[in-house]
Amino acid sequence: MLAQIGGLTAMAASELYTKRARVWVPDAEEVWKSAELTEDYRDGNTSLQLMLEDGTNIEHKLDPKTKNLPYLRNPDILVGENDLTALSYLHEPAVLHNLKVRFMDSKLIYTYCGIILVAINPYETLQIYGSDIINAYSGQNTGDMDPHIFAVAEEAYKQMARDERNQSIIVSGESGAGKTVSAKYAMRYFATVSGTTSEANVEQKVLASNPIMEAIGNAKTTRNDNSSRFGKYIEIGFDTRFRIIGANMRTYLLEKSRVVFQADEERNYHVFYQLCASSHLPEYEKLKLSNAMEFQYTKQGRSPVIEGVDDTKELCSTRNAFTLLGINESYQMGLFQVLAAILHLGNVEIKDRDSDSSIIPPNNRHLTAFCELVGVTYEDMSQWLCHRKLKTATETYVKTVPRLMATNARDALAKHIYAKLFNWIVEHVNKALITNIKQHSFIGVLDIYGFETFEINSFEQFCINYANEKLQQQFNMHVFKLEQEEYMREQIPWTLIDFYDNQPCINLIEAKMGILDLLDEECKMPKGTDDSWAQKLYNTHLKTCSLFEKPRMSNRAFIIEHFADKVEYQCDAFLEKNKDTVNQDQVNVLKASKFPLLVELFQDGEKAISPTGQGPGTGGRTRLSVKPVKGRESSSKENKKTVGCQFRNSLAMLMETLNATTPHYVRCIKPNDFKLAFTFDPKRAVQQLRACGVLETIRISAAGFPSRWTYQEFFSRYRVLMKQKDVLPDKRLTCRNVLEKLVEDQDKYQFGKTKIFFRAGQVAYLEKLRADKLRVACIRIQKTIRCWLERKRYLRKRSAAITVQRFTRGYQARRLVKFMRRTQAATTIQKYHRMVVERTRYRQKQAAALVVQTLLRAYMARQMYQSLLREQKVVIIQKRVRGWLARCWYKRCLESIVYLQCCFRRMKARRQLKKLKIEARSVEHFKKLNKGMENKIMQLQRKIDEQKENHKVVKDRLVSMETSYTAESEKLRAEVSRLRGVEEDAKSKGIRLSSLQEELEKLKKELTTTRKEKKTIEDWAKTYREEMEKMVSELKKQNGTLTKDNNDLNRMIQEQSQQMTDKMAHAIVQETQQLETDLNEERSRYQNLLREHLLMEEKYDDLKEAMASSNASKPGHRRKDSTHSSNESEYTYNSEYAELEEGSRAAEDVTRGIDTSLTLKLQKRLTELEQEKQSLRNELENKEDQFQRARARDDVEFKKARGAELEYESLKRQELDSENKKLKHDLVEIRQSLLGKAGPGAGGPRLPSLQGGVGAAELLL
Ligand SMILES: Nc1ncnc2c1ncn2[C@@H]1O[C@H](COP(=O)(O)OP(=O)(O)OP(=O)(O)O)[C@@H](O)[C@H]1O
Ligand SMILES: [Mg+2]
Repeated sequence: MLAQIGGLTAMAASELYTKRARVWVPDAEEVWKSAELTEDYRDGNTSLQLMLEDGTNIEHKLDPKTKNLPYLRNPDILVGENDLTALSYLHEPAVLHNLKVRFMDSKLIYTYCGIILVAINPYETLQIYGSDIINAYSGQNTGDMDPHIFAVAEEAYKQMARDERNQSIIVSGESGAGKTVSAKYAMRYFATVSGTTSEANVEQKVLASNPIMEAIGNAKTTRNDNSSRFGKYIEIGFDTRFRIIGANMRTYLLEKSRVVFQADEERNYHVFYQLCASSHLPEYEKLKLSNAMEFQYTKQGRSPVIEGVDDTKELCSTRNAFTLLGINESYQMGLFQVLAAILHLGNVEIKDRDSDSSIIPPNNRHLTAFCELVGVTYEDMSQWLCHRKLKTATETYVKTVPRLMATNARDALAKHIYAKLFNWIVEHVNKALITNIKQHSFIGVLDIYGFETFEINSFEQFCINYANEKLQQQFNMHVFKLEQEEYMREQIPWTLIDFYDNQPCINLIEAKMGILDLLDEECKMPKGTDDSWAQKLYNTHLKTCSLFEKPRMSNRAFIIEHFADKVEYQCDAFLEKNKDTVNQDQVNVLKASKFPLLVELFQDGEKAISPTGQGPGTGGRTRLSVKPVKGRESSSKENKKTVGCQFRNSLAMLMETLNATTPHYVRCIKPNDFKLAFTFDPKRAVQQLRACGVLETIRISAAGFPSRWTYQEFFSRYRVLMKQKDVLPDKRLTCRNVLEKLVEDQDKYQFGKTKIFFRAGQVAYLEKLRADKLRVACIRIQKTIRCWLERKRYLRKRSAAITVQRFTRGYQARRLVKFMRRTQAATTIQKYHRMVVERTRYRQKQAAALVVQTLLRAYMARQMYQSLLREQKVVIIQKRVRGWLARCWYKRCLESIVYLQCCFRRMKARRQLKKLKIEARSVEHFKKLNKGMENKIMQLQRKIDEQKENHKVVKDRLVSMETSYTAESEKLRAEVSRLRGVEEDAKSKGIRLSSLQEELEKLKKELTTTRKEKKTIEDWAKTYREEMEKMVSELKKQNGTLTKDNNDLNRMIQEQSQQMTDKMAHAIVQETQQLETDLNEERSRYQNLLREHLLMEEKYDDLKEAMASSNASKPGHRRKDSTHSSNESEYTYNSEYAELEEGSRAAEDVTRGIDTSLTLKLQKRLTELEQEKQSLRNELENKEDQFQRARARDDVEFKKARGAELEYESLKRQELDSENKKLKHDLVEIRQSLLGKAGPGAGGPRLPSLQGGVGAAELLL
């Protein structure tokens, strides 16, 4: 086909492969990918420039040898056609694409491909099989309706009626593609449209065969949950009025191996599981069945349940179907017994006895059950399961078999029984469907496995593919025949058609010395093996047949090139499967069974009892000629024939039948391996299209003239390619003329009587020409209209643009003028504004500078004033300190001078004391001295009073001056603070000046007036300050003079007090000395008196009594012993007093005239002096207190008024006071030292006089 297209394209390649032409390129994923030429193809090009649909650009290299161009895509008008042969380009990608578009986009599962109906399994229940649809299709022409299985059935039914010819519908396809479903729909169609005969339920019976056959012949596989494991051809018989009268079924190649072995995830035949699932029901109890997982023959696939299927219910429907077909209950149970027996047989465990023999343990539960179920003895069965007979020419002997062989024999027996049962059921179903009415015609429905190729292909695949080769040949022949008929009708020479014939492949398999022949031969050989058979195959066919090949790596396999694909078959087990032997002894045991059904199964057919009660001979069914008579006659011989041979014969019979009928083809396609609804896997689809002959049909079509148009159709469609002058009244002539012009090669078309026949691709070429012509015309129309539209638009735009420009320019000019004016105005405004801003800023700065200057100057002036003031005060302080230092120095000098003077005067005083001591011995002198002292004290007292008064006057004056001064300074301070406030106000006003520009002038005036005022105030303040300074200096002077006076006064007081003290001290010293001398004298006198006293004591005692009576009126004078005190001074005084008293008394008594009066006077005087001293002291203390209080008050006031200066004054005064005190202290010390010097010489009794002397000194101070 490729070569043909290549050749075809060689002519018109450069015309067809132009830019934008669409082609198909191979793709690993999608199988075929659509692409578009981006450049024209020229003869001699080695590659094509393509763009894929996703926009990627690729370079497609052409095969250098074949130079084949890629397949062209059909025009879009043809995509989705319900007949693939209507496609102009008939090739694999076109077919695949068309199917995909219909299936995926339109959810259409049926498509025609010529006479073939392609059915894609939707894996979804579709509402297209109801009785309304059947009625819709009934009586319609195929071309008038959408493709459908009903359309095919209708066509067959119609042709049967029309042509009086038997029909057959051949359904093929992969496992799970929907063959059985399609076959069932076809049968249902016939049952519905053909009505019923007088015999009720014939069509129901025909349909009832399906559940029975599915139960015993269908199983779950990995590819299909309800996979038919046999081929089936059912002939539905019709009477002369084309009503169903019966049916007959033929089966092919049941997969027996499934009975004993199931692959993973697979099941045995449904019926076993149906029985196991129903085993709990009482009616099945005797079968001794249980769960399917407990039986070896049902558990190997480990998948005993199908999702969505209830096996118990399924058994009911199976039994209903049996009943409907007239197979009575007892037969049904008999069948189930055999089936149960097979399951038990599978569980019979054969154990090794030794290496060559095996044994079944006695009382094997399953073997017992098996024997019971099939009515054989346990011993026989166990014997022949483990032994076999060997026949030689002379004798027969029993031989043990090893365990493996025994197990295989057991399995072979199970398979054999099942096969017998299957055949029996088929036979009895057929019997039930047989009718005594004369069959006029029939429609056969063939549901047979399609071409198969797996990883490992064995005998089964070989047989299946052989059957498919035969069917394909039949198909090819039929298509060819049809084509031929059409050509003849149209008076076109048929020799132009070329088609592929697969006869060589069939010959390779079935001819003499073919594969099957050699296999049978090898089976007959006593030492024949798979390997030796393979060797024979290689030797026979390798050189002679191109379709036979040997794989490079194996000596146990061969390859056959089938019409669909190359398949490699493994030779293993070919011989055994072909022989299909069973231990005849075992069969004989079964044949000897007490169970009649089993005996019937093994009866070899001829005497079978009808389960419906009818004998086999009573049927009266007329077999059609297609049924070979020998088929039944030779059934006993058939059994001895090999499987291959049997299959070949039955196939030959089938072909005979099919060839005698009009075939209708249904090709089922499985769109994906995952049972997904409406999912299309292009790889898998292409695989099946190649295998099921669809592409072959297309190839045959393409090889001839696949496209056919009536003259009218051609004229209508390609009128555009004709010129006016070409159109003639005769359309046929017109078409002929035009076509000859358009397509130069006369071989590309043929003119029939009513149709024009085109070779493949010619319609597409004509379509392209048409499309090009239309495109050119379209482009011209578009060009002109676009030109006209564009010009109109251009003119409109131009005038609009001119108007817009005019208005725009006017608008722009106005805007420019406005802009210039605004710019001018803005410049002027800016100028003035800037001026105002600058002036304002300048004025602000000026005012601020002035304020700053003012403040700075004021600050500097204040600073200067402060420094001057500080200097002044420093000078004063210096002055005072220097003065104080000078005074200190002076005082020290003075003290030392005084001390010198004191020393000198002491010396002089001592001298004078000596003189005075002499003088003081007279009373006159004492008197004079006392008088002088009193006068002097009086004078001194008077002078102190005067000085106090003076001091008071001066102090009052000072206080009044101080208060006036304080008031004045307070007033000045208030004035200064007011001025400062005014100044602050002026300052704040100056700050606010910037915002209060308008008030500036006013404020200025105010400022000047304020300044004037300030100036006057300052002048006034200056003068006032000067005045104050003057006054202060005057006051200071006054203060100085006052201080001086005060000092002078103090000094005077001091001098006076010093003088007084000196004098007093001198006087006291003198007096003390005097008293000391007196005391010494008194002591000596006392000593004398004491002696006198001792003398007179005796006298005293005598006189005591007399004295006591005379002195009774004066008791308090004497001190009693009991009143003596511990106080020393008191004691001293008392004793002294007593001494004096006693002394005076003694003197009185003894001397009478001694100076008692003087002593009394002195004592009296002393007492007076003491009292006086005490009063003076009190007075002095009062004065001092007063003086202290006054001074403290003065101090406080003075401090307040004069601050530091006054403090200085008080300090000074305090110093003077302390000096005074110190002097006093010194004086006391001197006095004490004087007393101390005088003390050591004096005794204890002199102390009272000393005390009295000190009291006098203190009194003086
Ligand atoms: N026309 C259809 N509509 C809906 N489902 C379908 C149709 N055809 C097939 N199927 C589904 O596909 C499954 C397999 O179909 P079927 O048993 O007919 O396959 P088959 O070709 O007979 O396979 P085998 O060769 O294994 O017997 C069916 O059980 C059903 O679910
Ligand atoms: Mg099937």
